[in-house]
Amino acid sequence: MTGYTRPDGASSHAGDGSPEGELGTFKTLEQFIIERQDSFPHSTGAFSRLLRDISLAAKIVNRDMRRAGLIDVYGSTGETNVQGEVQQKMDALAHREFVQALRRGGECCLIGSEEHAEAIPLSSVSQEGDGQYIVLLDPLDGSSNIDVNVSVGTIFSIYRLPDGYDEEKPDPKAALQSGTEQVAAGYIVYGSSTMLVYTTGNGVNGFTLDPSIGEFLLSHPDLQTPDRGRIFSINSGYYHSFEGGLREYLDWLQQQDPETNRPAKTRYIGSFVSDFHRNLLKGGIYMYPATEGSPEGKLRLMYEANPMGFIAEEAGGAASDGHTRILEKSPEKLHQRTPLFIGSKEMVRRAEAFLQGEPERAMPA
Ligand code: AHG
Ligand code: MN
Ligand code: MN
Repeated sequence: MTGYTRPDGASSHAGDGSPEGELGTFKTLEQFIIERQDSFPHSTGAFSRLLRDISLAAKIVNRDMRRAGLIDVYGSTGETNVQGEVQQKMDALAHREFVQALRRGGECCLIGSEEHAEAIPLSSVSQEGDGQYIVLLDPLDGSSNIDVNVSVGTIFSIYRLPDGYDEEKPDPKAALQSGTEQVAAGYIVYGSSTMLVYTTGNGVNGFTLDPSIGEFLLSHPDLQTPDRGRIFSINSGYYHSFEGGLREYLDWLQQQDPETNRPAKTRYIGSFVSDFHRNLLKGGIYMYPATEGSPEGKLRLMYEANPMGFIAEEAGGAASDGHTRILEKSPEKLHQRTPLFIGSKEMVRRAEAFLQGEPERAMPA
């Protein structure tokens, strides 16, 4: 992994004597996508345009987020979303921007969003594009953190419309595909810088937004996550309502054992995207398990667990509900929840072993 270091070679000269400039060093997201697309025979460019639409919406959300406190985006809309959660103004704004960008772009025929009860067909409007993709979205993840200037994100998951479905009038059921069918997945983290990270099943690449030119630039090529890390991220306020195996795993993580690098460190932002991103880079595990009050956990399979599971696996990590690989779960509904254990492979395997009552299976550390 290379970090985003601003090139100081702006004044250096390329071989032909012309000034090299900053873009001589960094590839834009668009250039990167087009290069990749060229390696697929029969590619029509539709997927490239779809990603362009997503990155455009991300830039608009980013712009508004950066002015939060100056424009009216703090606080709630006064509405609750389909899962009964309070909808923040930024949730609603992000939902609108992504839907609009995808509608205009014409490559997407069906959108499933956390902020809308049913999947939204788009085919009756536009169409310049082929309308062959389905996009599932968490438009704004971690929205309770917006008002206090803490990193939040957007998560997206992309599928192809399966054969036999009408592009003009896609049945919302077409969105209910298992995670293994994803053609791409990604997230945007609006943090100390804004980054877009995505995979098409051919590695994971990260792009940092350079706000001065409004472009995402390839800053983190071919991201790989460590097999094990020192960080665990969980809301341990619910400790007493976790199942026994998980409590044992958390106790194990906190035991003193310098040889196995324990105790581990707790880091929990409360924005899944931000917690995931940090753990991806540094090594660690993020957990949102079942609790007594939420036996299926809190996070949503289709637009939180599946896309991040795809990215985790592509970076060499793992994603599980404690028993089953996330990507192999069969979805029954758009807003289905799932327990989630995601991140460094060895840590996820160990969490599974504890949850299944066989901690020795994962030993030694
Ligand atoms: P969202 O803002 O999209 O509803 O997601 C919030 C999620 C996730 O981002 C975060 O990790 C988790 O909720 C935090 O939940 P707790 O406050 O229960 O820990
Ligand atoms: Mn979320
Ligand atoms: Mn959300």
